[in-house]
Amino acid sequence: MKTVNIRINGEAVSSPVDDRLSLADFIRDHCLLTGTHIGCEQGVCGACTLMLDGKPIRSCIMLAVAADGADVLTVEGYDDDPLMRAIRTAFNRRHALQCGFCTPGMLATAHDILSRIADLDRDRIRTELGGNFCRCTGYLPIIQAIEDVYAQRAQMASMKPVIRAAE
Ligand code: FES
Ligand code: FES
Repeated sequence: MKTVNIRINGEAVSSPVDDRLSLADFIRDHCLLTGTHIGCEQGVCGACTLMLDGKPIRSCIMLAVAADGADVLTVEGYDDDPLMRAIRTAFNRRHALQCGFCTPGMLATAHDILSRIADLDRDRIRTELGGNFCRCTGYLPIIQAIEDVYAQRAQMASMKPVIRAAE
């Protein structure tokens, strides 16, 4: 056991954890933030994607102890973020989710893409989404939702995301 100190969605969390506990399990079971979904548990599907120190990571293949001292942003932490609000609205409008299992990871990745990349086109969005699997939507509505927000972004220049992705 080791005590980890992690800042999660702006709040300091300190807890003893088993050495082999994944960050995803820590966030879900210890912090009760169940918006982070666990699918493959092998770093493949992207359902568990969250932001760690401004970069998207697979929380199922990262140990909680390895996140000691980090700043974590889960899907629950974007409520005051205008960019994420626009992404969620676009996902709703485009019907970019069905069962919703992939959605937290998709939202985190979409936010990262739109924060980090100045020039986007459909091919680039597809490439950037390559690590997030969806069994339901066929991907097109998700891509269209991101395209919609990208098109709005000029008007959103004054909006400041909670955490910008690292360059
Ligand atoms: S559950 Fe982490 S990548 Fe699939
Ligand atoms: S909406 Fe069901 S897996 Fe993506």
